[in-house]
Amino acid sequence: MLGAWTAGRGPLYRRLATAIRAAIERGELQAGDRLPAERELAAQLAVSRSTAVAAYDELRADGEIERRRGSGTFVSRREAPQRAEERPSAAVLSGILAGLWTGPGPLIELTSASLSGDGIVTPADLEAASRDLREVLPSHGYSPYGLPALRRSIAAYLSERGLRTSEDEILVTSGAQQAIALSASLLVGPGDVAVVENPSFPGAIDALRAAGAQLAAIPVDADGGRTDALRILLERHRPRAAYVCTMFHSPTGALMSEPRRRELARIALEYDLPVIDDTALGELSLCGSVGPPAAAFAPRATFLTIGSMSKLCWGGLRVGWVRGPIALIERLARSKIVADHGTALLDQLLAVRLLARVGEVREIRAAQIEERLATLTHTLAERVPEWTFVRPAGGLLAWVRLPRGNAVAFSQLALRHGVAVVPGSVTSIDGGMTEYLRLPFAAPPEVLVEGLTRLADAYRAYVAGLDGAEAATVLV
Ligand SMILES: Cc1ncc(COP(=O)(O)O)c(C=O)c1O
Repeated sequence: MLGAWTAGRGPLYRRLATAIRAAIERGELQAGDRLPAERELAAQLAVSRSTAVAAYDELRADGEIERRRGSGTFVSRREAPQRAEERPSAAVLSGILAGLWTGPGPLIELTSASLSGDGIVTPADLEAASRDLREVLPSHGYSPYGLPALRRSIAAYLSERGLRTSEDEILVTSGAQQAIALSASLLVGPGDVAVVENPSFPGAIDALRAAGAQLAAIPVDADGGRTDALRILLERHRPRAAYVCTMFHSPTGALMSEPRRRELARIALEYDLPVIDDTALGELSLCGSVGPPAAAFAPRATFLTIGSMSKLCWGGLRVGWVRGPIALIERLARSKIVADHGTALLDQLLAVRLLARVGEVREIRAAQIEERLATLTHTLAERVPEWTFVRPAGGLLAWVRLPRGNAVAFSQLALRHGVAVVPGSVTSIDGGMTEYLRLPFAAPPEVLVEGLTRLADAYRAYVAGLDGAEAATVLV
C-alpha cells in the first residue's frame, strides 16, 4: 500500500507520512481504519521507532489520523473517497516502483519472472507477422476464440508434448493471467472453496480471490504440490476447483513428478474436481525433458491446462491459452468476449511464427537460464553464503530462505539500497512464508550481479539492525 515510500527527498519520517497520506487520499485507507502501532510499523518497515513516531506525529498534527486512548491509532473521520476495490498486488507494485525511485542510479527490480524478448522476437518475425496481418485486414478482425491458425499451432504443439489436443479445445487468451482469471470466474463463485498450493503464484491468488473464492492450501515439496494433502482437503472442504503449477512451480521451481501428475489426474476424475493447471513456465526446464502435462493422464477429467508465450518468448506479446473440454472452452470464450473481444491479431500472428520454431527458441532459453541461475548461485554463495535455496528444476525463480529476520521488513530496507525484491508473504495465502524471498534470476547477468550485491549489502545492514535491537533488549 505504501509503494516505494522511501523514494523522494526529505527525512525518512516525512516520506513515510507522505506515503500514508497518499494511501488515505487514494481511499485504500479509510476513515476509522486502524493503523499499526508505532512499534509494529517500525518493525515492518525496518525503520527506527522514532521514525514511525515522527511520521504519526506529523499526520496527527495535520488531522489525518487520531489516537484513541487505549485502542490505538486510526484514520480520522472526514470525507474520504470510495475504498479502492483491491489493494495493489505485488505485480502492480513492482510495476510502479521503477517509476517512483529517485535515489542514486536506477532502481534494480528483481521482482519479475520474465526474460527480455531480445534475440527471440527477431526483425524477420516482425516482418513476417506484418505481412500476415495484411492478409487478414479484409476481415472484421475480432477473434474471441483466437485465430484458427494459432489454435491449430497450439493444438499441434501440445500434442507434440504428449497432450493430444484438437483446435477446438483451445481458447487463445491475452496472456496466461487472463486464462487464470477467466478460469477462476468460470469455476468458482463467492464463498466457494478453491485449493491452491502454498506458496503459489500471486496472480492466481489474486484472481481466485477476485472471483470470491475462499482459499485452502496444500504444501509443496520437491515433487510439487502434495496430492496426499489434496485428498484430505477434498474430504473436508469439498472445494469447487484447484489451481496448481505443475511445471514449473511458482515460486519454488519444483517439477511435479510424473507419478504425482498421474495421481492428480486420478483425483480429478475420482472427485470430479476441476483442475486449473498453470504450465506458463513449462518450457523453461533446467532438468531436461519433463513429460506430458497432468491432463494427459486422465482424458475424461476436467483439466484447464494453461500455457503462455510470455516466459518462453516475451511477456509483451500477451498471448496465452487454455486447453480444456470443448463445452468449457465455449463458456470461457463468452467471458473472453465480455473481457476484451479477443486478443490482438498482430500478437497472435507473431505467436504462430514463434511457435513454428519453438525448438530453436527453447534451446536459446535453456542456455540463458542455466547461465543466469549459475550467476545467481555463485553471487549468493560469495556474498550471502548463509542464504539457502533448493536448485529449481525449472522456471525463473529461486525460493531463497533467509536464516534470520523477516523478508517483508528486509525488502523495505532493500528498497533503500536501490533494489526491489518480493517477500515470500506475497506468495502465501495467509501472509506467512516471511522467511523467504521470491528471487527471479531472469535479469541479464551484469544486472543480476549488481542487484544481488546491493541486496547482500542491505542484508548486512538489516542483520546489524537486528543485532542492535537484540543487544538493546538484553541491556533493558
Ligand atoms: C506461473 C505463472 N503463471 C502465469 C503468469 C502470467 O503470464 P502471462 O504473461 O502469460 O500473463 C506468470 C507470469 O508472471 C507466471 O509466472
